[in-house]
Amino acid sequence: MKQPLKTTVLISGGGSNLQALVDARDSGRLEIDITHVISNVADAAGLDRAARAGISSSVLPHGNFSSREEFDQALAVLIAANQPDLVVLAGFMRIIGQAVLEPFQGMLINLHPSLLPLYRGTGTYLRAIEAGDRHHGASIHFVTEELDGGPVISQVVIPIKSDDSPESLAARLSPREHDLVVATVELFSKHRVECSEGSVFIDGKENSAPLMLQPDNQLHP
Ligand code: GRF
Repeated sequence: MKQPLKTTVLISGGGSNLQALVDARDSGRLEIDITHVISNVADAAGLDRAARAGISSSVLPHGNFSSREEFDQALAVLIAANQPDLVVLAGFMRIIGQAVLEPFQGMLINLHPSLLPLYRGTGTYLRAIEAGDRHHGASIHFVTEELDGGPVISQVVIPIKSDDSPESLAARLSPREHDLVVATVELFSKHRVECSEGSVFIDGKENSAPLMLQPDNQLHP
């Protein structure tokens, strides 16, 4: 029998995406073992969620390190200690460098609240509204040295309403982002996704466009 996918989750804040993974694990939808949670913020609410779910956690405050490289090296050691198959950056608000990227190539995925390649970085909701976009969404991509720039695996799209504020848009996107992370991690748990030479492969076939989350929560090309 295949072992559940050993998953480490990196957070900086509320951890609602971590919670979605925990809930999907508990309901039996996801065959994953969330072995460890790492936060760079000591009072991140997501740490309480981890504790309630019985998941061990570590805090690695970036302010304790004199350089980005030293932080990255310590983060790489912490990640390696749990020997994960997958590392999910779920609201982890640090750019990570080669010390983490190299040893965990193809195993690091990040959630980003925009339809990448649109709106890398922060403030995506306001930027989408101000641009007059009719749709917004969330993406999950492999992490590379480029901020929010790695190959995109999956996306979910929602409409922008004429009276949307950044807050109302974020509130509407959040549950769909949770669905997206669960559906995407499910693909990993079934060993269906790979990253090779900057491209995403699903079931061994190169993906020409991100998988899209459908209303039934399945991912389709
Ligand atoms: C998510 O919207 C994610 O896309 C972004 O930060 C948010 C994290 O939320 N990178 P949470 O901490 O999982 O609640």
